[in-house]
Amino acid sequence: MPRTLTGIQCTGVPHLGNLLGAIIPTIEASKSDKNETFGFIANLHSLTSVKDAELLRENSYAVAATWLAFGFDVNKNVFYRQSDVPEVCELAWYLNCFMSFQRLSLAHSFKDKSDRASEVSAGLFTYPVLMAADILLYEAEVVPVGKDQKQHLEFTRDLAQKLNIKHKDLFVIPEIQLDEKNMYIPGVDGKKMSKSYGNAINIFLTDKKLRKCIMSIVTDDKALEDVKDPNTCIVFDLYSLLASTKQIKEMRANYLGRGYGYGHAKQALFELIVDQFKDQREKYWELMDNKPELDKLLKIGADKARTIAKEKLVTVRSALGF
Ligand code: ADP
Ligand code: TRP
Repeated sequence: MPRTLTGIQCTGVPHLGNLLGAIIPTIEASKSDKNETFGFIANLHSLTSVKDAELLRENSYAVAATWLAFGFDVNKNVFYRQSDVPEVCELAWYLNCFMSFQRLSLAHSFKDKSDRASEVSAGLFTYPVLMAADILLYEAEVVPVGKDQKQHLEFTRDLAQKLNIKHKDLFVIPEIQLDEKNMYIPGVDGKKMSKSYGNAINIFLTDKKLRKCIMSIVTDDKALEDVKDPNTCIVFDLYSLLASTKQIKEMRANYLGRGYGYGHAKQALFELIVDQFKDQREKYWELMDNKPELDKLLKIGADKARTIAKEKLVTVRSALGF
């Protein structure tokens, strides 16, 4: 049974793009008996950008509640907060001592983020090494990632290979599973939906706020009686991602007919989201209002992860001379 591992940053509340592009497909894949899935909330990584303690804590809970509300099974899988297994920081230090400084300074993600940051921390620079520790600590065999994380995975593989030359079979070399489908869920302004662009749809908002957000989706200025083009409309795009074939057909006909305005289409999208995610929205808020329950569920995973981590560190310490 291959061990798949995935880290989820907690820089904000997951949005519709995160859900459709990453969270739902990963949870679906985790249901297979052929997979053992490790999913963790990468809150140590998120500290490179979120410096407000209360916000970081709340975001970790929001990410946990989202995964649980969408049915991630904490008994079948291993679901934990990265910081609940501090052993990862110890391994990260060891790996730091083998990672080439020059190689790290070539990281695209570091260059990109440091160009935009007012202050560049050492944590941001060594971010990929902590990621390598996340993966090697648990002997993950498969790591599914988006294109932007590919280079970090290459660093991980190279580091593991470098250490294995001297210390035979110390680390499992992880396979990179590149997410080729590259879904592009548009935000309310038509650009790729992202926390950093302020164009995200947060399905966990109250009905009133969610409706307001949907109503803010940008459209052209065609009037009610004009024929509209479904193929160039963000509202139609988003509707199509969630609706049934029959509903999509009906909406298309409405666009091509007259007397159907963007307000109608937005209302239909709002109702579809509310209807389709009814149970998950309820469950999310039930969990967010019960942090002790969230802590309890996360502890199940942390205990499992920590047992593996401690065992691995015994081998690593001995190999390195401690
Ligand atoms: P953000 O851009 O909001 O910060 P992240 O970079 O944290 O999102 O992405 C987390 C996961 O969600 C990644 O696997 C990414 O591919 C997926 N994802 C994020 N935005 C979208 C989107 N607009 N469409 C499809 N998938 C997305
Ligand atoms: N850096 C990843 C991202 O931004 C999150 C992450 C942290 C991760 N540790 C990981 C992903 C280990 C895969 C494996 O999306």
